[in-house]
Amino acid sequence: MLKIAVLISGGGSNLKALLDAAAEPDFPAQIVCVGSDTDADGLEHARAAGIPAFVVRPRDFGSREDWGAALADEIRAHDAGLVVSAGLMRILPAGFVREFSPRLINTHPALLPAFPGAHAVRDALAAGAARTGVTVHVIDEGVDTGPVLRQAAVDVRPGETEAELHERIKQLERPLLVQTVRDIALGTLRLPGVG
Ligand code: GRF
Repeated sequence: MLKIAVLISGGGSNLKALLDAAAEPDFPAQIVCVGSDTDADGLEHARAAGIPAFVVRPRDFGSREDWGAALADEIRAHDAGLVVSAGLMRILPAGFVREFSPRLINTHPALLPAFPGAHAVRDALAAGAARTGVTVHVIDEGVDTGPVLRQAAVDVRPGETEAELHERIKQLERPLLVQTVRDIALGTLRLPGVG
C-alpha cells in the first residue's frame, strides 16, 4: 500500500478529507505522517486519527536547505512513497524537491498556469477572472510550475469575497485531491517519469 506524508500550514481541511478517505477500508493508500512548518491547527486532525504529527520550523535552521533536509529526514523515517503538500504555505527548497519529485504533489487554488503564488484566489479576483479553480500538480523547482495532474474549475460569482470564493474552491479541491491520490496509488494516474 502506498505510504503518504502530508504537509500543511493551516486548518487542514484537505488533510481531513484525505484522512477520512484513508479510513475507508478500500482506500489504496495510508497516511503515515503529517508535517508542518508551524503549529498548524490542522495537526489536530492527524493527532485525532492517531497519525504521527511533527513540526519542523524554518527559524530553527540556518538556511532553507537545512530546513528542507530536516523535513526530508522526518519523511524518510516514515518511509513515505508520496509527499502531498496540502496547504503548506512555504516553498520547498531545491534539495527537498530533488529528493522527492515527482513523488511530490501540491494542491493549488487556481487553474495553473494562471495565478501561481501564495495569493491565488485574491489574484484571480483582482484580475477579474470569470473562472478559476484548483490544480493538483507535481512540485518541481519552480513556484507552482510543475506538471499538472488534475484540475477542476469554478465560475466566479459577481461581488464574491476572497473568503467566499476560496471556500467554494476548497469544496472542489478536497475531493479532487482525494481522487488524485487514490488514482496515483492505484496506478491509474502515472506520475511523469515514474515507471
Ligand atoms: C488550500 O486551498 C490550498 O490549496 C491552499 O491553502 C488552502 C489550505 O486549506 N494553498 P486547508 O488548510 O486544507 O483547509
